[in-house]
Amino acid sequence: PQTLIGKTGDGANSHPLVQAMVRNNIRQPGPVLLTDANPDQGLQAALQLSPLEVIAQVEESLLRGRGGAGFPTGRKWRLAANTPAEERYVICNADEGEPGTFKDRVLLTEKPDLLFAGMTIAAYAVGARHGILYLRGEYRYLRAYLEATLQRRREQNLLGAGILGRDDFSFDIRIQMGAGAYICGEESSLISSCEGKRGEPKNRPPFPVQSGYLGHPTVVNNVETLSCVPRIMEQGAPWFRGMGTTGSSGTKLLSVSGDCVRPGIYEIAFGVTLAEILTQAGAQDAAAIVVGGASGQIVGRTEFHRRLCFEDLASAGAIVCFNSSRNILEAAAYYMDFFIEESCGYCTPCRVGNVFLKKGLEKIMHGEGEPEDLDYLRSLSDTIIATSRCGLGHTSPNPILSTMEYFPLVYSAMVKERPGGMQAGFNIQKA
Ligand code: NAI
Ligand code: SF4
Repeated sequence: PQTLIGKTGDGANSHPLVQAMVRNNIRQPGPVLLTDANPDQGLQAALQLSPLEVIAQVEESLLRGRGGAGFPTGRKWRLAANTPAEERYVICNADEGEPGTFKDRVLLTEKPDLLFAGMTIAAYAVGARHGILYLRGEYRYLRAYLEATLQRRREQNLLGAGILGRDDFSFDIRIQMGAGAYICGEESSLISSCEGKRGEPKNRPPFPVQSGYLGHPTVVNNVETLSCVPRIMEQGAPWFRGMGTTGSSGTKLLSVSGDCVRPGIYEIAFGVTLAEILTQAGAQDAAAIVVGGASGQIVGRTEFHRRLCFEDLASAGAIVCFNSSRNILEAAAYYMDFFIEESCGYCTPCRVGNVFLKKGLEKIMHGEGEPEDLDYLRSLSDTIIATSRCGLGHTSPNPILSTMEYFPLVYSAMVKERPGGMQAGFNIQKA
């Protein structure tokens, strides 16, 4: 077992279910999320303001979505609040499914009150009475613990009717279990799944803020995004904006894994370089890094100077280290298998195209590739990205495209020299 460094919080981890199942490995706590601050001070501060003032604060903080896409949170809330409706909903996307990402699980286990306070503030801001926590199927073991936390919050008047004595504000949260499908992390599938329908992406627009759960305006935010909100309300937008970079305010949770000495969770200010993270994680021999998981990018040493932020290398939170003994094409093939398995099958380019991409990659890995196969992989990738309906198809070629970009010598060695297949000793170092 790993040593816990800088572990925060004790209430959450004392729950027997969590103790039994979770090793959180928090390596670097930070000022926003992994602190001992009381999340309900942020809720109290928010309820002193009008809903529009809360939205203005969140806009001013420049908080952007932590699920990967980075859409401005305040703008999302304002759009939902401005859509005329009898009912509005707040949904927390806790369907964390990107391979290599496990930071939301840590927030759910260590800081559930921070998340629920954030959902409550979002509900107050947009005028929602009902919230849903969409919990990844694989996190089922956390359900009883989270239900107990919700029940305690009801008893503390932090949820339910007349929250903190405000007769005009009622809000409650139910937990909806996912069933293990990656595609249900895509927000329109997630909403369908909450409605009891098949989790299949829909064309957007309309966006959920216009027509979401049961046709009502719905704010869908990631666990980490919502967890930032109580701290912004407590400490103020300028405090939050004072961390990070111009285009990426605040901090980011990273899930670091793979070939490194100190895997685990790091809360970093946006703008830290990949090289700095690798040093902290003890990944001295790193030769390739997956930034952002399967849908992200696989980058080589030439990119380690780059900054982790929306303006440079954006990441939903996964940092997976590969040392120089690894075969990077095998890693790309593994991620392609993942997408083939998780495609919902609705559109042909994604359902079939990813299979052909994988076959093309295998041909090269077996030493049977022609130079034109590289062009084929690029053009098929472009077609899949351009014609797929949802984010899965828009990002599924990334493992191949990014390895072609950052490890061209690996590909050219396999294609030109035709060495009779990829040998066991063939690795990044040799290429
Ligand atoms: P997107 O950019 O289409 O939308 C992001 C958010 O902004 C959504 O909530 C959307 O409703 C909202 N939005 C965008 N344009 C809008 C508009 N004009 N009006 C109102 N709302 C608008 O990105 P998408 O497809 O929702 O998510 C893709 C991202 O998800 C990728 O960056 C990928 O890395 C990430 N991802 C994260 C995973 C995880 O486990 N955290 C898993 C898989 C993908
Ligand atoms: Fe389904 Fe893939 Fe089309 Fe998305 S891109 S709707 S996952 S088939």
